[in-house]
Amino acid sequence: MNDILVASIQSKFSDLFNSTPQLIFSPGRINIIGEHTDYNDGFVFPAAIDKGIIAAIDKSDTNFCVVHAYDKNESYQFSLDDIEPITNGNWKNYILGVVAILQEKGKKIEPFNMVFGGDIPSGAGLSSSAALENSVVFGLNELLSLGLSKKEMIFISQQAEHEYAGVKCGIMDQYASMFGQKNKGLLLDCRSIEATSFHIDFKDYELILINTNVNHSLSESAYNDRRSVCEKVASLLYVKALRDATEEGLLKLKSQISEEDFQKALYVIQENNRVHLASMAMESNDIFGLGGLMYKSHSGLQNQYKVSCDELDFLVDKTKEFQEIIGARMMGGGFGGCTINLIKNNSEEILETIIKAYQLKFNIEPSVYQVNIEDGVKML
Ligand code: GLA
Repeated sequence: MNDILVASIQSKFSDLFNSTPQLIFSPGRINIIGEHTDYNDGFVFPAAIDKGIIAAIDKSDTNFCVVHAYDKNESYQFSLDDIEPITNGNWKNYILGVVAILQEKGKKIEPFNMVFGGDIPSGAGLSSSAALENSVVFGLNELLSLGLSKKEMIFISQQAEHEYAGVKCGIMDQYASMFGQKNKGLLLDCRSIEATSFHIDFKDYELILINTNVNHSLSESAYNDRRSVCEKVASLLYVKALRDATEEGLLKLKSQISEEDFQKALYVIQENNRVHLASMAMESNDIFGLGGLMYKSHSGLQNQYKVSCDELDFLVDKTKEFQEIIGARMMGGGFGGCTINLIKNNSEEILETIIKAYQLKFNIEPSVYQVNIEDGVKML
């Protein structure tokens, strides 16, 4: 967590509101493997990281709420009556969404002030939006003693994302941000919402993220489209979700659906299986096995599920030139954001070479993040 940012948020809050706030750290997440499986009731393998959102929150003695986005130096004032999503409201909708859903659930929300800022760029695929939603629901739960469990809170965050941000996301991001454990990856069953934690220690290897620093705008609609394809194929297979489907079952349907839809559903079934294989590889310290599964995951996301982009593909392909990198794939929803790489410790020179090659090709400077795996949302 970023101590300088904490101090800045705290002092901005005092300047603006002249009271002593409660402080919350709400982390972003990485995902080792299991992409686009969460909304298919499947398995994912995320972990919370030491980067995320810092929020300061306190009650207001006025009749309205003021939220200040520190990174954008933008304030927004709203009344608690008749909250509606705002068209192109971006960050405001995450806040409004959580508040509105709490109200719908019969929770009495009192006027509050909030300042938030973060050290993960939005669009990096590190779930800054889930981190923000969780910081609001967690902060209000503490501030107003709403009595919500962590599980209830993540579903409120998810509903805010669906109804206010318009992304029909699964539960992975909100879960990982809320329930993260230090140095542990969480093998999460997105149907039962139960996770098994795995100690992460890759010995001579580490996980490094490379941010393409692009975020292609089609990502939201493409995300929702993928989700509806999955639901359509599941219903044709008479199963609740693709988690319950098999490759054999899907093959029988091949002539009735388009090749594109077939490949997408096949990807989900195979990726879900890869998550299990990855957990077995981790259990037996087979990091080469894990790395191989990451490459296969990327290939499926690129060629079957079609949520990658040239920049992500370039970064993943480039890693294949170095034996020090044993696995890489795009991470998160796709169409930009980060790749996650399993790379030998102290491989700075190799990373430098990849950065230069990317810059030469796309004329964009990528960012490299070394992340630590941390506990989930907490009061500071
Ligand atoms: C986004 C969504 C998640 C998940 C991933 C893809 O991060 O918010 O629910 O679907 O994409 O795995």
